[in-house]
Amino acid sequence: MLRRYKVRDGEPPLAMVTAYDAPGARFAVDAGVDLILVGDSVGTTLLGYESTVPVTLDDILRHTRAVRRGAPTAHVVADLPFMTYQVSDEQAIANAGRLIKEGGADSVKLEGGVALASRVAAIARAGVPVVGHIGLTPQTAGLLGGFKVQGQEFESARALIDDAIAVEQAGAYMLVIEVVPSALVELVTERVAIPVIGIGAGAGCDGQVLVLHDLLGIEDRHAARFVKRYATLATDMRAGIAAFASDVRSGAYPAAEHTYKMKSSVLAELRDSLERERS
Ligand code: KIV
Repeated sequence: MLRRYKVRDGEPPLAMVTAYDAPGARFAVDAGVDLILVGDSVGTTLLGYESTVPVTLDDILRHTRAVRRGAPTAHVVADLPFMTYQVSDEQAIANAGRLIKEGGADSVKLEGGVALASRVAAIARAGVPVVGHIGLTPQTAGLLGGFKVQGQEFESARALIDDAIAVEQAGAYMLVIEVVPSALVELVTERVAIPVIGIGAGAGCDGQVLVLHDLLGIEDRHAARFVKRYATLATDMRAGIAAFASDVRSGAYPAAEHTYKMKSSVLAELRDSLERERS
């Protein structure tokens, strides 16, 4: 069904969010999103890394299992982390297979265009649905000159279109495009039959994805221009923790309604027995 999904069919764009744990996945489903991504952004959102590079397959497996437990029927895409698919077709197929079999993902996502198309083809041939990811590819951002808008010059714009077509022809059923001018993404979206999900790529896509921590404002450090904050949870979280610490220090917590009672007869018997032991 998703393979045929194009906004020009008259449907609203797809809404995709990242999730890394069971509650996040449950909230996403309750909120009615179409797709959940267990992104390697878990490295920067939850694990305290500066980039996605250190994230391991075991990290993604653990978080994918948690997401699957929280959202048993959602469409879950799991990221293949850096260096879990670049080495060989065999490595890529084995690791993609683990995310499906052990993690419970429906499909895997990997970064790269023309250069990685043969890998997309190998994984898809092995029976694992693949999502491509082109434009700004965070795992190799260093090679792209950092976290910059991609495809602004003729050569790089042409290359992005070639990347999209190569990934589609290799058998990907969906494509994520990150931080690219909106006019360029419109050209891509028109030229591929698979759904194009944008992040920082404007409105001319078949769907949009954002990192949950960005859209909820769980992380309130610098955010990219494309991030829209729909909540300011970092402020609420700090205030909540500070109020708890203050209540503990003042004795306001725990109050009677937070404590458990014991029968007075049992307490009296216990006191007697302790008294007898002492004398
Ligand atoms: O890891 C992630 O969250 C992603 C999105 C930015 C698309 O790949």
